Amino acid sequence: MDILLTAPEPELLCIFGTGDLGRSLGQRLLQSGYKVVYGSRRPHSCGPVPQGAQVMSHTAAAQSASVVFICIQREHYGFLEQLAPQLKRKVLVDVSNNLRKNLYPEANAEYLQRLTPEAYVVKAFNTLSAWALQNGPSDSNRQVYLCGNSTEAKEAVTEIATRLGFSVQDRGSLSAARELEDFPLQLFPLWRLPLRLAFGLTAFFFFYLLTRDVIYTYATQKKDISFRIMVSLANKVFPIVSLIMLALCYLPGVIAAVFQLYRGTKYRRFPDWLDRWMLCRKQLGLLALAFAFLHVLYTLIIPIRYYVRYKIMKENQTSELDTTIAWRSDSYYSMGILGFGLYVLLGITSLPSVSNALSWREFSFIQSKLGYLTLFFCTFHTYLYGWDMFLRSSYYKWYTPPGYMLSLLVPSVVLVLKLLLLLPCVDRSLTRIRQGWERTEPQ
Ligand code: HEM
Repeated sequence: MDILLTAPEPELLCIFGTGDLGRSLGQRLLQSGYKVVYGSRRPHSCGPVPQGAQVMSHTAAAQSASVVFICIQREHYGFLEQLAPQLKRKVLVDVSNNLRKNLYPEANAEYLQRLTPEAYVVKAFNTLSAWALQNGPSDSNRQVYLCGNSTEAKEAVTEIATRLGFSVQDRGSLSAARELEDFPLQLFPLWRLPLRLAFGLTAFFFFYLLTRDVIYTYATQKKDISFRIMVSLANKVFPIVSLIMLALCYLPGVIAAVFQLYRGTKYRRFPDWLDRWMLCRKQLGLLALAFAFLHVLYTLIIPIRYYVRYKIMKENQTSELDTTIAWRSDSYYSMGILGFGLYVLLGITSLPSVSNALSWREFSFIQSKLGYLTLFFCTFHTYLYGWDMFLRSSYYKWYTPPGYMLSLLVPSVVLVLKLLLLLPCVDRSLTRIRQGWERTEPQ
């Protein structure tokens, strides 16, 4: 393929469309040392354009540059069909988006390619806002995704994006355009599942503990202890949800290992649900950390609570120091603090600015080995907190187990499975499979 690269330095680029996006892009291109020409239906009355840019008719503008940015809405693409001869062998950059998914049978960029079959259409820049284009890349807005069928055309667009300060991710051929066009329509896609889970678990445990603690006491003793909702109940719900969600970060990893061991290969795809679950582990972990923070903050205020001070005053009789209780409470606080310390470390190292500074080995050491250690400390903290509660029938109000016992189910399963996977014979097989070895089934 030969693209018409005739313009002398500074390179002249063409933009169709003088709306917000077209103007912002033009300004940024001018600031980056390009010359810009706008193509407009009404070149003499098209509204303000950035200083230094020219405005011409669509035909004249298209003829003057080798790269044309199409900054107009898809509904107005029709006229480009008549311009097809002038757009022959030009790189057309489709920056458009739609208002909702599946609005049209084909992606905007594919439609553009159909209208101008001899042009080289590249989908790019559609995930950036006019604001981000005008002000330049910021940490959250540095990435430009592109796709297209011509490698040379993609290289030309990559060069422009790089010169504007963006980093480029090539997503393949033009058939990926629909996926790119759906990106801006997604609201926190990887957060959706963890948020729903956090909300569901919080609601479940809130009502579970409300029934067991507050309603049970009212029904059996006619005592109103509803004030405990604000701190005592919250300080049960938050750590319980945090512990379960932390365990849910590590459960897919062990399930994946079991799959690999069972299948005897790493080359078969995991089921979709497991893939999706693995992809949102970071978000699960960060939400779990937020809940742990709340637990620690609530714990800090325990000594200054009126209810606690009142209870201490009432029970102010002298009794012998019980060293077992002292051991138990010190140990569970200590486990909690160690667990929380590592939890924070995991959270910090999952931030892109920190993880980018780590090698893959360092990152996986922290997220995997230290991650399981965090889960162990937090689980142990909860076991020590529970101590012998599980033996006392008075804790099974209305035949229901205390919340902390339920919270221990998933973490205990994860830790036992992980321990089994660490057995030398199992670990050896798994390592071989992960290094590419495959078990051949007898014919
Ligand atoms: C319970 C302290 C970190 C999970 C408790 C309790 C205290 C405490 C005082 C008893 C609360 C009550 O009487 O209702 C601490 C301290 C921590 C810490 C000082 C660190 C600075 C963690 C972490 C987790 C966790 C990181 C894991 C997510 C739990 C659980 C309970 C609990 C599940 C039982 C809640 C219940 O049902 O009452 N912790 N904790 N804790 N903690 Fe922690």
